[in-house]
Amino acid sequence: MITKNDCDIKDLSLAPLGKKRIEWAAKDMPVLKLIGERFLKEKPLSGIRISSCLHVTTETANLMITLKKGGADVALCASNPLSTQDDVAASLVKDYGISVFAIKGEDNKTYYSHIEAAIAHKPNITMDDGADVISTIHKRWDDIDFNIMGGTEETTTGVIRLKAMVRDNALKYPVIAVNDSMTKHMFDNRYGTGQSTIDGILRATNILLCSKKVVVCGYGWCGRGLAQRAKGMGADVIVTEVDEIKALEAAMDGYRVMSMNEAAKIGDLFVTLTGDINVIDEKHFKLMKSGAIVANSGHFNVEINIKALKKISKSSREVRPFVEEYNIDGKLIYLVADGRLINLSVAEGHPASVMDMSFANQSLAVEYIVKNYKNLKNNVYLLDEKIDREIARLKLNSMGIKIDTLTPEQKKYLSSWQEGT
Ligand code: ADE
Repeated sequence: MITKNDCDIKDLSLAPLGKKRIEWAAKDMPVLKLIGERFLKEKPLSGIRISSCLHVTTETANLMITLKKGGADVALCASNPLSTQDDVAASLVKDYGISVFAIKGEDNKTYYSHIEAAIAHKPNITMDDGADVISTIHKRWDDIDFNIMGGTEETTTGVIRLKAMVRDNALKYPVIAVNDSMTKHMFDNRYGTGQSTIDGILRATNILLCSKKVVVCGYGWCGRGLAQRAKGMGADVIVTEVDEIKALEAAMDGYRVMSMNEAAKIGDLFVTLTGDINVIDEKHFKLMKSGAIVANSGHFNVEINIKALKKISKSSREVRPFVEEYNIDGKLIYLVADGRLINLSVAEGHPASVMDMSFANQSLAVEYIVKNYKNLKNNVYLLDEKIDREIARLKLNSMGIKIDTLTPEQKKYLSSWQEGT
């Protein structure tokens, strides 16, 4: 039984809708289902306390349920103030007995108090999406009076923060970079972000994408996915990059590649997906056409310099839910979702079918830590490639796709160096 002290959510009466939506997502998560069935029998996480800081969505709910089936005692807080689905939070508490600390639209103070509440759960394993729990724990390491075996990290931005901790010799326990599994970033970051970013933009603005000049800022896995999907819907896609290899790849993938200064003058819609700050800055707003729409799909709301936009604007007003119009001497710029990640703040995040693989990685990473933490150093690790490939096999299987295997002759050929032409 979850008591009032074990949760802070919007409204428990939203649980019935949340439950139905959690079950709907589960239908598209066959790999996670298989893991849950095994966890239920084997209980590999028996007695393990987990503090998770993830977007509170229907997909995350299915991950929490899976960890609980494995015997874990889980607490969940949000990894973004705007991404929580309040009905899902209610159902997790009411129907599944899981402690949740998350309310959609919570202010920064509440967001961090919820992180503290998750840490007060005294985790053996931390599970982050953006590294906020791990960084909070490390900032007051001397007060930590519980045993942590390890942690997992879901996203590129979090892995970058963790690698900075390793560089500074600051990391105090091993972390598995779930993001870096092939079955995570090649699918979730690319196809998940590609589709859900467009979903968020269309829900917020209802604009027609075909014929629009869409500026994709950043050509990592997320940028690649968005560019591909925007092109598929008939947009004229422009890519901006700072990395020469990625810029070249974008050019050869068939996009126009140019500097942000050039793109700022012609873009109709701008989306940042870089993980860095002030990618769209004051000088770019000054170059933009009236009517330009600006959105962010990166993890933190730092990619668009909103302070600068406010500073140079005479006034602003909400013109639709999630759309703020800024007036710069008569020129109108539209900022979506206050620069928060658009796919989770306006839409529902990535579809369950890709989160299936991401959260299969999370579940198996937790199991891996429980079995192997004594042999791990305070470093950032990739999940074992065998596990990554097993997830791909299970996913293919669930899709009814059969693939070939190497013949003994082919195996021998691939392992020999003697044979040439
Ligand atoms: N990140 C992106 N989409 C997500 C989702 N649907 N659930 C949890 N985390 C996400």
